[in-house]
Amino acid sequence: MKESRTTPAEITTSVVASFEHCPDPRLRALMQAFVRHLHEFATEVRLTEQEWRDLIGALTATGHITDERRQEFILWSDTLGLSMLVDALAHQPAEGATESTVLGPFYVPGSPRRAYGESMCEEPAGTPALVRGRVLAVDGTPIAGAELDVWQNGEDRLYAVQRPEAPEDHLRGRYRTREDGSYAFLAVRPVPYPIPDDGPVGKMLAATGRHPWRPAHIHLIVRAPGFTPVTTHVFDADSSYLDSDAVFAVKRSLVRRFRTRAADDPERPAAVEGEWVSLELDLVLAPGEDGEEIADPGRTA
Ligand code: BEZ
Ligand code: FE
Repeated sequence: MKESRTTPAEITTSVVASFEHCPDPRLRALMQAFVRHLHEFATEVRLTEQEWRDLIGALTATGHITDERRQEFILWSDTLGLSMLVDALAHQPAEGATESTVLGPFYVPGSPRRAYGESMCEEPAGTPALVRGRVLAVDGTPIAGAELDVWQNGEDRLYAVQRPEAPEDHLRGRYRTREDGSYAFLAVRPVPYPIPDDGPVGKMLAATGRHPWRPAHIHLIVRAPGFTPVTTHVFDADSSYLDSDAVFAVKRSLVRRFRTRAADDPERPAAVEGEWVSLELDLVLAPGEDGEEIADPGRTA
């Protein structure tokens, strides 16, 4: 009798079956679907042994470069659009609520509390930008006492956590809305910047003809008791890379235009000299659970 050969499909079937007795049904579903899709991928592209070795090499390099300051695995997730996909699946925004986008690796919990209109700059960092607006519920009611946790880069393209010599609280702060839901803070006009591209993710971007740049943005987490918090950005409408963000985080509703203001504009904040810009930005929260504080964002400094 002629022995029949084991087919690739049989290999997939037996691996999927090996999880059949997993006591946790969710873990079983995750592992079985993962194996099915992974095998389907290898089969579809007829993955070669050399390509498989290269892939293992990239994962190994990712492990080696990752530590408590550098999170290359999340950078893979970001640049492959997985972070945005998981965020979109987790947060279907209520009608009218501000849309969410990625947290990114430069969030540092525990930013200093700052007063209405106070600057987040501990040293000169670029063109002053007055950002102001209101935090509202979806029905338009102002939310008093909402918190805006804000962070951004300076004109040198860097977040303070990327510069060991920078003052710790530079370009970040937590602001509260007043009784009428209004807030204001003094920022700088953000600039486009490249995500860290000196590791395996950077190699992938270069090899595939992609660039590492992100369009200019300011990060915000907005929270208030009784409302679902939102982790988001506001993007500068005049920035480059809005159509090719390296991490796919641009959503049309988050793009806003900064207004250029003259040095003698009567609305010029007292702390500002020379030309400045302003930005009007209302933020809208949906009712819901308050949500946990973000304690360990997975840093890449
Ligand atoms: C950021 O906006 O800070 C960011 C997001 C994803 C990857 C790298 C940086
Ligand atoms: Fe950023």
